[in-house]
Amino acid sequence: MAKKPKFQTVKGMHDILPEDQKYYRKIYEVGSKIAEFYGFKKIDTPIIEDADLFIRGVGSATDIVKKEMFTFRTKGGENVALRPEGTASILRAYFQHGMHTLPQPVKLWYFGPFFRYEKPQADRYRQFWQFGIEVLGESSPIIDAQVILISYNILKELKFKDIVVNINTIGCRQCRPYYKKLLTSYFKSRVSSLCPDCRRRLQENVLRILDCKQEKCQPIKAQAPQILDHLCDECKEHFKSVLEFLDGVEIPYNLDPYLVRGLDYYTRTVFELSIKDSGEISQTALGGGGRYDLLGKIIGPKEVPACGTALGVERIIKLIKEKEIKIPEEKECQVFLIQLGDLARIKSLKLLEEFRKARINVGESLGKGGMRAQLSRANQLKAKYALILGQKEAVDGIIIIKNMENGKQETVKMEKVIEVIKKKLSTNRKK
Ligand code: HAM
Repeated sequence: MAKKPKFQTVKGMHDILPEDQKYYRKIYEVGSKIAEFYGFKKIDTPIIEDADLFIRGVGSATDIVKKEMFTFRTKGGENVALRPEGTASILRAYFQHGMHTLPQPVKLWYFGPFFRYEKPQADRYRQFWQFGIEVLGESSPIIDAQVILISYNILKELKFKDIVVNINTIGCRQCRPYYKKLLTSYFKSRVSSLCPDCRRRLQENVLRILDCKQEKCQPIKAQAPQILDHLCDECKEHFKSVLEFLDGVEIPYNLDPYLVRGLDYYTRTVFELSIKDSGEISQTALGGGGRYDLLGKIIGPKEVPACGTALGVERIIKLIKEKEIKIPEEKECQVFLIQLGDLARIKSLKLLEEFRKARINVGESLGKGGMRAQLSRANQLKAKYALILGQKEAVDGIIIIKNMENGKQETVKMEKVIEVIKKKLSTNRKK
């Protein structure tokens, strides 16, 4: 057996190999097209940020900050972190670049890698990609519904069926403290029956007990007070409107009173998207988000009503593969150039340039000399036409066009080849 190479990817990190690029590109294309239709503009923020941005923004008691942040001190003494998520960075950029002075809302989308030091397992990586959107500066519930609709449409456009939106509200600073108090006293009286993690959550963030997946905690959770019974009138009205808007666009949703999310910045609407498989809602969220009206004051100068979502690219790709959803190959190469002999090789370089300028993709294997190897590569790439440039053709200024489907060959003048190929490809397209 071959010896394992000395260097491997760091635990939890993965290469994106050429054969997988088409999935990333597809999600990028579908996401950006839909987001831009709705008036979103692209933003890129740095991978490294001040660690405090996330400690304050995402919350010092969250798993993301406590256990999963890649933090380090730079040579200059700054305490920085690899971004574990995008929302806090985008709000930072919104203030930093004066976007709060522009007509509101400001709508932004992003696509990029994020980092969390999680226990590597299926669906959990230490570097993963997200496609996200954020709407900043608008409090209307129609925005919450539109953000959900956009995430839903992206998954739908990627050909997923049975998409489910799990949705809940976690109230606001008026009603949530009282609800938390109720929950705390409820769980305190049952503390001995809680799992060790939930005992800790009881001290740090009691809401997180609601999304504990441990068997032991389920019967206690089932009897816990529910936020829907303790919302203030504004939160009740907001949530009702979000659901009405979703009904209006026929988005199927599932009211999930236990959905609280793992980031502390949310107020009111929270949601996650997953897939129903054989009638069961999958535990693995493909994406999630919600409203974060208070985050602006935590990391910036003032409160800004805002709502957003992020989709997990690797999780979507895994499902695309499992469901055998067809994603076309990136670059269809309908023409392949075969060259035989030194003069032909020299002329090939120039000819390829002309095809590039004419925007026709042409495959080649210039490093190879033999006819067989090159023909087999043309077949591999499923090229419709092979251009054969031998020593004689190169001297005479001609080239052979071989139809790879029926084997027919014709000879054309070198200066005419682009024109002839263009015609053939466009006739094929019309068929
Ligand atoms: P999040 O739920 O932490 O939300 O992440 C969004 C999605 O990223 C998840 O649903 C999942 O698909 C994917 N994801 C998260 N962690 C991993 C991981 N370790 N490996 C693979 N995929 C992962 C946020 O990040 C919020 N910033 C979303 C948001 C935007 N809220 C408001 N605006």
